[in-house]
Amino acid sequence: MDEDSRIAAVDDVPTDSTFLFRVRDRETDEQKEAIIVRVTEGGDGEGDPGELACWLNYCQHFTHIKLDKGSGAPMRDGEVVCANHGAYFETESGLCTYGPCEGAYLQAVEIGIADGAVYLTDEDYAFVGVGPGEQDELDLSSKSNYEF
Ligand code: FES
Repeated sequence: MDEDSRIAAVDDVPTDSTFLFRVRDRETDEQKEAIIVRVTEGGDGEGDPGELACWLNYCQHFTHIKLDKGSGAPMRDGEVVCANHGAYFETESGLCTYGPCEGAYLQAVEIGIADGAVYLTDEDYAFVGVGPGEQDELDLSSKSNYEF
């Protein structure tokens, strides 16, 4: 695969959180964030460590709200949790299973795995870099109002 599209080593993707990186939307030229998660089935936390999924880093309740705010999105029972109002998203399908956007899906980004590394294979996006983009004021001021 193309070295320019290499995101990270598979081992860099945490088992209980998300790996954050940036892409450029080829159509709009807009920079966006995306997250890679380990896919787990049945919520038992015992998913195949080789199976990964990738989604744009935006909740489907308020779509400007980031799931991973720069230090990994919280996960519970194998699902990604939006810290703002507690929505849960299946890692495998991106489906919101609980919360204010129940039934909505995260936006998928295609990735591939080769030689122990994860590559961006989605033709709609170009890889920019790892880590968060510039934080906007809105996101910096948004605090979790959901307690676990
Ligand atoms: S912004 Fe994510 S659940 Fe409300």
